[in-house]
Amino acid sequence: MNDTVIELKGLTKRYGYGDTESFALKDFDLTVKRGEFIMIMGPSGCGKTTLLNIIGLLDRATSGEYKLNGENAANISAARQARLRAKKIGFIFQNFNLIEDLPIIENVALPLVYTQTPRVARLKQASSALSRFHLQEREYYLPSQLSGGQQQRVAIARAIVSDPEIILADEPTGNLDSRSSHIVMEELKAIHEEGNTIIMVTHNPALTTYATRVINMLDGQIDTDIKTVADHKLPKPVETRKKRKGRSR
Ligand SMILES: Nc1ncnc2c1ncn2[C@@H]1O[C@H](COP(=O)(O)OP(=O)(O)O)[C@@H](O)[C@H]1O
Ligand SMILES: [Mg+2]
Repeated sequence: MNDTVIELKGLTKRYGYGDTESFALKDFDLTVKRGEFIMIMGPSGCGKTTLLNIIGLLDRATSGEYKLNGENAANISAARQARLRAKKIGFIFQNFNLIEDLPIIENVALPLVYTQTPRVARLKQASSALSRFHLQEREYYLPSQLSGGQQQRVAIARAIVSDPEIILADEPTGNLDSRSSHIVMEELKAIHEEGNTIIMVTHNPALTTYATRVINMLDGQIDTDIKTVADHKLPKPVETRKKRKGRSR
């Protein structure tokens, strides 16, 4: 099994032309192994969100190559990109991005709409994802009835409900107090230990203790890149992933 999940080569994202030309990413190279927990740091505007959006197939590079599980992203049809996003990639955002007038169980079930799971099964899976985060008794609360920390746990439940292999998190603790931030990080740690790959942007250097690799970006490029865990020691995908899936179906 090839354990490279993401491969970026010479990736460039340009905005504007001529006098207004600027680069959000510049000749960016990155290889991500399955089971890495990468934290990306760097000043505002250095390209972190652009990078996550391209990896998450929400945006396209201007030039360069992006391979997802060995497949060139440029060759993947828009329809399949949408399916891959729904099945293989979970997103977590700083501002939670929950739909305010939907109960949290419906929010969590949303990604499953794209996986052709029938509605009852979708709600069952959403309910089981919420119970993992101790929110099962609040399934029919609206997001606004929950604290920030609880809303972010709902967002994490939504990110993992389709059992994706890659979690992309853009400053997931940026709006949380330190206690909620700690709870969210412990959840991400548990998800990582199941063998999932996580790429997370943060401004908080204290959180890098959770990472297996810390990348500092500057002006659309990698400034420093330090692995703190050797590749052969990264967590392997565990069977519980399949079992969990089996149970909740
Ligand atoms: N839609 C856009 N049009 C023009 N410039 C953009 C656009 N999106 C991002 N940028 C620019 O790209 C650079 C990187 O942005 P971003 O990836 O959001 O950085 P970060 O997440 O590190 O703060 C910034 O200079 C930003 O102004
Ligand atoms: Mg950003």
